[in-house]
Amino acid sequence: MPQPGTLNLTLNVWRQKNAGSPGRFVTYAARGISTEMSFLEMLDVVNEELILKGEEPIAFDHDCREGICGMCGVVVNGIPHGPRKGTTACQLHMRSFKDGDTLTLEPWRAGPFPVLKDLIVDRSAFDRIIAAGGFISAPAGSAPDGNAIPVPKADAELAMDAAACIGCGACVAACPNASAMLFVAAKASHLGLLPQGQAERKRRALRMDEQMDREGFGTCTNHGECEASCPKEIRLEFIARLNRDYLRASLTRRPEAASGGTG
Ligand code: SF4
Ligand code: FES
Repeated sequence: MPQPGTLNLTLNVWRQKNAGSPGRFVTYAARGISTEMSFLEMLDVVNEELILKGEEPIAFDHDCREGICGMCGVVVNGIPHGPRKGTTACQLHMRSFKDGDTLTLEPWRAGPFPVLKDLIVDRSAFDRIIAAGGFISAPAGSAPDGNAIPVPKADAELAMDAAACIGCGACVAACPNASAMLFVAAKASHLGLLPQGQAERKRRALRMDEQMDREGFGTCTNHGECEASCPKEIRLEFIARLNRDYLRASLTRRPEAASGGTG
């Protein structure tokens, strides 16, 4: 029996040496895990034991451990970021599990996110989508006065909801089509809802959508698994908003040079 407030767990962890090697599940015992620990702290404890035994620690991504940076990401028993809704793996606590549980840990499974090592995947496809259009081109100069550009409160709040996306990629891992629509919709919407984002709104929708296709992400077929797995609870309504922008932009598309670059 474990001490009160601690858990003994069995972990089935995906181990893969590098992108070119085949992977396999390896079973580890995680003993005496405090229920106050975060999920990543639990992995730290397991890794310390592996290092003491002279074995290779489990590689996993993390940075802020505060649910902000989007670096962490592990599929726990088939659910990206684990069983707690609206929670990143780094904010998930071991009190969400029971003594004796068996946990299967896998990396994000999606073609455009190749496994680099163990639980770490390459999410640079997201960076390339942002580089394709997820920005505004503002003339540089002195900082404008605060509130110089009025923004309706409802738009500001909706834009903030979309801006909560941390780019973790759980939506892709959860989608049976490995679609990145929720991520792209969040990024396009938080700019497209604000006055500063209007000039490039159409071009942004076209470019980000087309880059998503080039990266090999699948099509959205409205399963809703992305929304269910998103640790920031980004809503499907942003996908509808992106689709409307994309349709409008496609119908009025002109060569970028002729249209002054605004799509
Ligand atoms: S939409 Fe949600 S799940 Fe997808 S990248 Fe953004 S925060 Fe992560
Ligand atoms: S480590 Fe930054 S969001 Fe989890």
